[in-house]
Amino acid sequence: MKITVVGAGAVGATCADNIARRELAEELVVVDIKEGFAEGKALDIMQTSALCGFDTKVTGVTADYSKTAGSDVCVVTSGIPRKPGMTREELIGTNARIVEDVCKNLLKYSPDTIIVIVSNPMDTMTYLALKATGLPKNRIIGMGGILDSSRFKTYLQKELNCSQNDLQAVVIGGHGDTTMIPLTRLASLNGTLVSNLLSEEKLKQVSADTMVGGATLTKLLGTSAWYAPGAAVATLVESIVRNERKVFPCCVFLDGEYGQSDICMGVPVVIGKNGWESILDYHLNAEEQEAFNKSADAVRSMNKVLDTLVTV
Ligand code: LAC
Repeated sequence: MKITVVGAGAVGATCADNIARRELAEELVVVDIKEGFAEGKALDIMQTSALCGFDTKVTGVTADYSKTAGSDVCVVTSGIPRKPGMTREELIGTNARIVEDVCKNLLKYSPDTIIVIVSNPMDTMTYLALKATGLPKNRIIGMGGILDSSRFKTYLQKELNCSQNDLQAVVIGGHGDTTMIPLTRLASLNGTLVSNLLSEEKLKQVSADTMVGGATLTKLLGTSAWYAPGAAVATLVESIVRNERKVFPCCVFLDGEYGQSDICMGVPVVIGKNGWESILDYHLNAEEQEAFNKSADAVRSMNKVLDTLVTV
């Protein structure tokens, strides 16, 4: 198994670190455009090999995509992160060009790869990657919902004083401060609905905190987060490379599912060796479907901006 991570910034390097520690591949290549940067991060990670007990071989390269040849999975984290006060959507102009270019370069050397998109605005970048590469839809997966669901679990755990590992909690919709939808109705603690344990008011607060989970960190850190994004990517990649068939909310191309078409958005999917294999229907109630449709409107208007930027 060979995996490539593009972008050796905080998110990309943390993805690489998690992928190496979990030994998800024999070979892991990190690519960056900044001279020597990926080489440095890769060497630093390699120097934890004996300390952490992994045998994945990590190498770094400066913009040399030939070294990524034959990758089974490629993770795209390239682009600029947001600064405090910025939305993910404000990054579109810069990141669209970068993501299109990176995906085309990856495909040149790894025509059979599965591509995981992390760059923001993630839903639009996933749509762009699909249109720009022409890959089968199952091989393009946007990572956002796993991370948002993990943040949802963190805020639920604080209220419930429980183990996050006993929680099932899913965030669907867009990966934006106003577009994501924490499904509070379905959240459960080892078989008990959380709505039976927390007041409606508390659940509303948890939901609101989850939606701005990334923005809260951006404010604290001065840039966007990396530990949870890196771990979330590794969890997704693990289900692909080990063909675990786990169900995660991921950003995928919708063709009528959840009432939407010609758009990439977060829905629950089965993740296995072929990428995303099928979409699960959570049978949204009227209120949730309305929120999903509104989220789709926002994502769609962001996708329209692509027409003015790149030739897809
Ligand atoms: C976040 C970025 C990675 O939510 O989208 O932290």
